[in-house]
Amino acid sequence: MRDACGRTVSYLRLSVTDRCNCRCAYCMPEHGVPMLSHDDILSFEELREMVGAAASLGVRKLRITGGEPLARRGIVGLVRMLSGVEGIEELAMTTNACALAALAPALREAGLDRLNVSLDSLDEGRYARITRCGRLEDVLGGLASARAAGFTNTKVNAVLIGGVNECDIRPLAELARAGGDGPLGVSSVRFIELMPMGECAAWPRERFVSVDKVLEVMGELVPVGPDGVAALYAAPGWKGTVGLIRPMSHKFCSGCARLRITADGMLKPCLHSGEEIALRGLHGDELLDALRLGISHKPLEHHMSAILGRASESARAMNEIGG
Ligand code: 5AD
Ligand code: SF4
Repeated sequence: MRDACGRTVSYLRLSVTDRCNCRCAYCMPEHGVPMLSHDDILSFEELREMVGAAASLGVRKLRITGGEPLARRGIVGLVRMLSGVEGIEELAMTTNACALAALAPALREAGLDRLNVSLDSLDEGRYARITRCGRLEDVLGGLASARAAGFTNTKVNAVLIGGVNECDIRPLAELARAGGDGPLGVSSVRFIELMPMGECAAWPRERFVSVDKVLEVMGELVPVGPDGVAALYAAPGWKGTVGLIRPMSHKFCSGCARLRITADGMLKPCLHSGEEIALRGLHGDELLDALRLGISHKPLEHHMSAILGRASESARAMNEIGG
């Protein structure tokens, strides 16, 4: 289905929990946030119904997000349910991979096609400081386990934080050298600009840096074209690619094909807009109409600016939307 700006909406990001086993400094306060109660979280049956309705309107790609999706009890069963929804051609998940090692084989078997792993540093101490409770070895073990289970197209997502992890650019990018068939199965490492939302909305301006920094550090990168929201680069002799995602310095709203549903059942036409449409309790044509309304309400673009000090207009932080 097309939105009012002619964009075809084919991609749904579904948050299955607002909980997380990490407390990344830019996302969550150190001591956590009030969490949704069990009753507020969509049940598996509700999730399946919403995905089925979205698929009937043309959604073909589904991404399971969080919080941390692996923190949702029964996640393997949920993956199995959602991978069987008619019309869904690709099922992906964004995870911090802290609990991935043990779950990867079962997720694969349940029908998960692809993984995006969030990893902002390859230095043990810095990783622990950024995530506040994550352990780097768990993530690396998770990547290896996923590769062994058959995930050979894993993308690593690294948020670039000015003055914090610029020195990780080259080591992180190197994860893509061996490509999807390599020991960690990483086909692409994508650097993402920090967006002023949630905890980091009040951070000083120098934390918000352009991912062009990656091109400065890695002079050997050559552009090979776009892939969705990322501009892709190759390095001579590397099997995988390096991607730059620039929500701040280059808006990519004009190519946005996404809808989002929060863990408590609110449809968000745009990550950064305050507009939400309640889907809970709707069935059949009512549910389809609400989804159509959301698609037609996708705004032309976001209004964030680190330079002008304008934060995201979304009232929620990333742990409730999942990126
Ligand atoms: N800006 C950019 N990326 C963010 N993420 C969380 N908060 C922000 C932010 N403010 C990323 C996480 C993860 C994905 C779900 O979103 O690091 O990779
Ligand atoms: Fe958890 Fe992701 Fe937020 Fe980090 S960015 S605290 S991994 S939800």
